[in-house]
Amino acid sequence: MRARAAAGEADDVNHTRVRLRRELERARARTHALTAVPESELTAQHSVLMSPLVWDLAHIANQEESWLVRRVAGRAAVRDGIDEMYDALLHPRATRTELALLDPAGARAYAAEVRDATWEVLDDCDFDTELTRDGFVFAMIAQHEQQHDETMLATHQLRSGEPILDAPAAPRTVASPAPDRVVVPAGPFTMGTSDDPWALDNERPAHRVHVEAFVIDAAPVTNARYLRFVDDGGYDRRALWTEDGWAHRVEASLDAPLFWSRGEDGRWVTRRFGRRIPVRPDEPVVHVCFHEAEAFARWDGGRLPTEAEWEKAARWDPDTGGSRRFPWGDDDPGPAHANLGQRHLGPAEVGAYPGGVSPLGVHQLIGDVWEWTSSRFLPYPGFRAFPYREYSEVFFGDDHRVLRGGSFGTDPVACRGTFRNWDLPIRRQIFAGFRVARDAEGASDV
Ligand code: AVJ
Ligand code: FE
Repeated sequence: MRARAAAGEADDVNHTRVRLRRELERARARTHALTAVPESELTAQHSVLMSPLVWDLAHIANQEESWLVRRVAGRAAVRDGIDEMYDALLHPRATRTELALLDPAGARAYAAEVRDATWEVLDDCDFDTELTRDGFVFAMIAQHEQQHDETMLATHQLRSGEPILDAPAAPRTVASPAPDRVVVPAGPFTMGTSDDPWALDNERPAHRVHVEAFVIDAAPVTNARYLRFVDDGGYDRRALWTEDGWAHRVEASLDAPLFWSRGEDGRWVTRRFGRRIPVRPDEPVVHVCFHEAEAFARWDGGRLPTEAEWEKAARWDPDTGGSRRFPWGDDDPGPAHANLGQRHLGPAEVGAYPGGVSPLGVHQLIGDVWEWTSSRFLPYPGFRAFPYREYSEVFFGDDHRVLRGGSFGTDPVACRGTFRNWDLPIRRQIFAGFRVARDAEGASDV
């Protein structure tokens, strides 16, 4: 019996190792693709909102070194004296080109050396500490690299000049979401998770939340719908905006989503990774800030969903009363479920993923665009910072708003029904859109 149990554990450990190796390799392949650009493009400051790509590259390696090579394995530093430069909290993004950063060749060599050490640490690891159980800290590092890859993708979207990235076009509508809106009945559901082994600290612990009945859009707000708001003077109607929202709308002269402009014929065009393309009516709107999303929702007679509402729409299974990992069930995301992982360089039309629909009939909650919610980024009851305060805890409070669901640029390893992203309400460079919710009273005409 004992021998059989030991053999079973050895199988689990090997399986965990194989999965982690695959996730770390996938992340690195993407990092290489995003940094396979001329040296001047790596060191340039493409936007004050972003780091130079070469900073992200070395920061990815530095984080991996700190956690896996030094903390888990107790080994010496791979490079002495560079931690401070790659500490995101010490240097705002706009100032990072002023640091004595590793140059592109130096950053690549550093990342490769760290990765060589990581493979040895992974091979030696028994996954028997709190940090390594089920491979958590390795998975945290894979998620961290993929998060920076999405950030680097946003840097590519902001850079000017000839296009570099390429990918096949996103799928078109297969079956339009019908009806347009879905009623989510009142009642409790389980929010967050205590047992998803790779979930990050802010997704924990699982807890019951009562949610009043509400109505939610069956799909993210499309460009066509957003254009009606623009054409109806939405940006000029003070009453649609909150005080903070209006102040920002005026100060930043907002009049359309970021990257939109009017073509010669008066039609809206957008720039996507260096290419000018028409604004396509059936795609989710992207590159709007929280304030724009709120103003649209008010114009539409609704409001943004709370984070709990979004998660209930995405995870609650009316047949079992339980919460799923994803809208479609517990399986990891595949290409038929959602537009994730930079397989395409933009959101897919609404109705393109019938395979990803939730039990209640809500489409495209995962992938395509991050969705703004009305919620501030706060800890769940029973939250414990793990393994470091600087991932989540230092960002809790009134400044940030939560985004859910992931975008076309989010990798599946960094996306779950419980995953929480956050940003400032004025930010538009992230791949963010939204959907509208409303109270269930007066919803009888749905
Ligand atoms: C979760 C996307 C808000 O990029 O600021 C990366 C992720 N944290 N390195 C960010 C993160 C530390 C984080 N977001
Ligand atoms: Fe980071």
